[in-house]
Amino acid sequence: MAEGARIRDAVPDDLDAVEALEDRVFTSDELSRRSLRYYLGARTAHFLVLEQEGAIIGDAIVAFRRGSRAARLYSVAVHPDHAGHGHGRRLLAASEAAAIARGATLLRLEVRADNAPAIALYRADRYREFGRYEDYYEDGTAALRFEKALAAAPQESA
Ligand SMILES: CC(C)(COP(=O)(O)OP(=O)(O)OC[C@H]1O[C@@H](n2cnc3c(N)ncnc32)[C@H](O)[C@@H]1OP(=O)(O)O)[C@@H](O)C(=O)NCCC(=O)NCCS
Repeated sequence: MAEGARIRDAVPDDLDAVEALEDRVFTSDELSRRSLRYYLGARTAHFLVLEQEGAIIGDAIVAFRRGSRAARLYSVAVHPDHAGHGHGRRLLAASEAAAIARGATLLRLEVRADNAPAIALYRADRYREFGRYEDYYEDGTAALRFEKALAAAPQESA
């Protein structure tokens, strides 16, 4: 990881920065400001940001459903100027840790079938493709569904 980058929980004041990141990273299907504001405050979500030298260069949102042990990785994004430095992998690991901390045993996600970098990231991190939604995105592209069983870190014996 590049020096000085750290992952922290997002706060409501991050709204402008995460909106700017969404606009920069996604050309379609980006989250609206309204959705981002919702996720920044939602008790059913864990919103992480990756900060470097005061700038937010990545983020990830994990969503939870009451009564379900399956968490959903709703979004993960790294600013293109900072791609290829392991930030995506770290955000994914932090998302898994956040899901485990909330009692989840499974992390699921959807990804555009044409999003080769993200699919490579999930496969490299041992996500398993288990399904597909046709005509899922605004432009009709299919979504691939991936999941990973989450293992809690072994407890230290006293
Ligand atoms: C997908 C994304 C988060 C990856 O972030 P990143 O910081 O560049 O990725 P990392 O440097 O952590 O790479 C980790 C692994 O992902 C894969 N990967 C990342 N970018 C890749 C690319 N352009 N082509 C192929 N594989 C790629 C590789 O397996 C890589 O491991 P390696 O470096 O050991 O080969 C980033 O490209 C992104 O934000 N894309 C746009 C938003 C998006 O599509 N999000 C996911 C769907 S919501």
